[in-house]
Parts: sequence; C-alpha cells; structure tokens
Amino acid sequence: MKTLLITGGYGFIGSHFIRLLRHERPHWRIVNLDLLTYAGDIDNLAGLNFTPDDSVYRFFRCDIADSSLVRQIFETERPDGLVNFAAETHVDRSLLNSAPFVRTNIEGVRVLLDVATQYGTRFLQVSTDEVYGSLAPDEAAFSEDSPLNPNSPYAASKAAADLMIRAYHRSYGLPTLITRCGNNYGPYQFPEKFLPLFITNALDDQPLPLYGDGKQIRDWIYAEDHARAVLHVLEHGLPGEIYNVSANGEKTNQFMAEWVLNILGKPRQLLRHVEDRPGHDRRYSLDASKIRNLGWQPSISLEQGLSTTIDWYRSQRAWWERIKSGEYRKYYSEMYGQRLKFEA
Ligand code: NAD
Ligand code: DAU
Repeated sequence: MKTLLITGGYGFIGSHFIRLLRHERPHWRIVNLDLLTYAGDIDNLAGLNFTPDDSVYRFFRCDIADSSLVRQIFETERPDGLVNFAAETHVDRSLLNSAPFVRTNIEGVRVLLDVATQYGTRFLQVSTDEVYGSLAPDEAAFSEDSPLNPNSPYAASKAAADLMIRAYHRSYGLPTLITRCGNNYGPYQFPEKFLPLFITNALDDQPLPLYGDGKQIRDWIYAEDHARAVLHVLEHGLPGEIYNVSANGEKTNQFMAEWVLNILGKPRQLLRHVEDRPGHDRRYSLDASKIRNLGWQPSISLEQGLSTTIDWYRSQRAWWERIKSGEYRKYYSEMYGQRLKFEA
C-alpha cells in the first residue's frame, strides 16, 4: 500500500483530489495535512465519511511552515510521496496583505522541501499559470520554458516556490514535479473566487462586480480534470520536470458572467463594471502539449462543467450561505463596498 501526504486537502482542489483517490486508488493511505484557514473546510470531505480511526485516512491540523510538526508527521507516517496543494490562493487578498502569502507559499514550501529531502520523498508542487505573467490577446500560449514574470504578490510567491523546487532538484537530487494550471472551477470553491461569487450573488439577485472592461481572458478547467492531471503527473511525470495543465478553456470574464446569468435566467442588469484590480493580468493561455504527450487529457467540457457547477451551488445553499455569513462579510465590504458605490 502507498501512503500519500496531501497538504491543503480540505481546500477546493485538494478535496477534489482526495475524492478522486478514494475512487481510483482506494488502497492508498491518505495523510491530509491542513491548517484549516478561512479557505479550508472539513465539510468539503464530509461525503467520504472518514472516521477518526480510519485505516486509510489520517488528518493533522498543521501549518506547513511549522518544521518540527511537519518533521514529526513524516517520521511517524513515512509517506511515499507528497502533493502540495496548501497555499494562500486569492489574488485580491494578496493585494490587501502579502504576509501570509510569503509565509505559506514560500516559507511553507521551503519547510516541506527540507523535510522531503531528508526522507527522499517524491514531491509534487501544484503551481499556477500566473507565474508566467500576462499575455496580449494575439501572443502565443505559455510553454513550460516561458520566463517567469509574476505580477501579483500571490503570483510572485508561487513563482518563488517554483524556483526553490528547481533548486532542491538540482542541488540535492530531490525527485520533484511541478504542475502549472489555469483557473479551476467546480463544486466546493470558496465564494471569493469569480465563478462561485458570481453564481451565488446571481442566485440572491445581488450585483456581479466585473473588474474593469471584463475583457480579461482566463483559461478555465473543471477541478476534477485538474485533479486527474495531478495524479497522472505524480504517477508518470519525470523528476525535475514541469507540466502545464489546460483544457483549452479560454474565455473573457464578461462572456463567463453573461453565461452564468443566462443559465440562471437572471437579468443582465445584475452585471456591474467596477474599478479594476491593480496590476490585473490581461490574459493567461497555456500550451499543454507536454502533459498530453504524457497521456493526460481533460474529459469535461466547459458547457458540462459549468452546468454541473451551477446545479451544485443551487442545491448547496446551506454550504455557501454559512461561509458568506461569517468573517466573509467583512472581507466583502472591504473589497467591494466602495467599488459597488461607484461603478466604473
Ligand atoms: P484553497 O484556497 O481552496 O485551499 C487552500 C487550502 O490550503 C485550504 O484547505 C487551507 O486551509 C490550506 N492551507 C492554507 N495555508 C496553509 C498552511 N500554512 N498550512 C497548511 N494548510 C494550509 O486553494 P485551491 O484553490 O484549492 O488551490 C490549491 C492549490 O492549487 C494552490 O497551491 C493554488 O496555488 C493552486 N492553483 C489553484 C488554482 C485555482 O484556480 N484555484 C489554479 C492553479 C493552481
Ligand atoms: O490562473 C490560475 C489562478 O486562478 C490560481 O492560481 C489562483 O489561485 C486562483 O485564485 C485564480 O486566480 P484569478 O485571479 O484568475 O481568479 P479570480 O477568481 O480571483 O478572478 C478570475 C477573473 O475574474 C480575474 O480576471 C479577475 C476577475 N474578477 C474576479 C473577482 C473575484 C472580477 O471581475 N470580479 C471579481 O469580483
């Protein structure tokens, strides 16, 4: 039996990855290490009915930057591999305060790398297309060899981690892998991100705050397809390599917002053009031929994925209403209060 240490397994994509493993690798032992920040939620795995004395699942509430606790967990659990989903992930929050991004996304990764090196553990880092920076509409997609030009504190912290990983591979021979993916969507995504925010606001007949002209392009992928890509790279990727992950889902934000309103039968008047995000990247686009040559391909179309996602948020009102009624309110008024008073 294989033991896999997964960090951030109670977050959005990490929970999809654990669900995937339960179905497709049921004999693997999962050790989930998560700090349960505002973005982590025990309910994200409630459907799997893990018990505290489960033989195939262990959970440790732990900060990945806490080196003594991480080392202790490695010593007792002896994982064969580590997949790091744990991160501060929201670009807008990184613009309000970059400190937690530096601590978790850089220092936390440094701690994981040191301990993994001590135990010789295969290490997969879940990274992002944002490390490459922004493209003009007519520029060619980013390849794994494109230079790193991050523009937000979030993107810079992820790029720094990618460079540390490269260095640990080169310097100590640690078997590392990096995946770089575009914008994920699907069930269980925290409603600070564009799609769940717009879907839940529309369901409540609240305005949808579209930044700037809404013509920014993001490359959308269903989270389950991303989870499958991570598993594929973990099992088949070559140490030291980087793999872009894309389902060729490039769309403008305005197009996605209008699509959501359409599916929900809500009026276009809910859309509000508001003050833009500072340093807002115009377009992301990934050339994913390397991972496709390795044998992975996406299986869920944007039409299918969006309709499943909207159905899920419609039926899981209790899940997102609980989130939106807590600490989130303060964040929402700081981020959107002024913006929604003065439309752009
Ligand atoms: P998320 O914000 O939904 O979840 C992050 C998880 O990490 C939470 O469970 C949180 O509690 C945990 N965490 C945060 N800080 C921690 C710490 N110091 N120690 C331990 N656990 C901690 O994130 P997500 O959207 O699921 O993203 C997962 C990973 O995928 C991140 O590394 C992110 O950079 C990357 N990624 C995300 C996207 C996307 O569109 N969401 C796209 C590409 C890459
Ligand atoms: O590209 C991968 C990245 O995708 C991941 O690395 C990040 O962790 C993830 O958060 C996501 O980053 P984005 O900044 O692209 O996602 P977000 O959902 O915040 O925004 C998507 C687009 O929608 C972006 O162009 C900004 C815009 N937007 C976002 C919000 C929250 C709006 O117009 N209005 C909003 O209220």
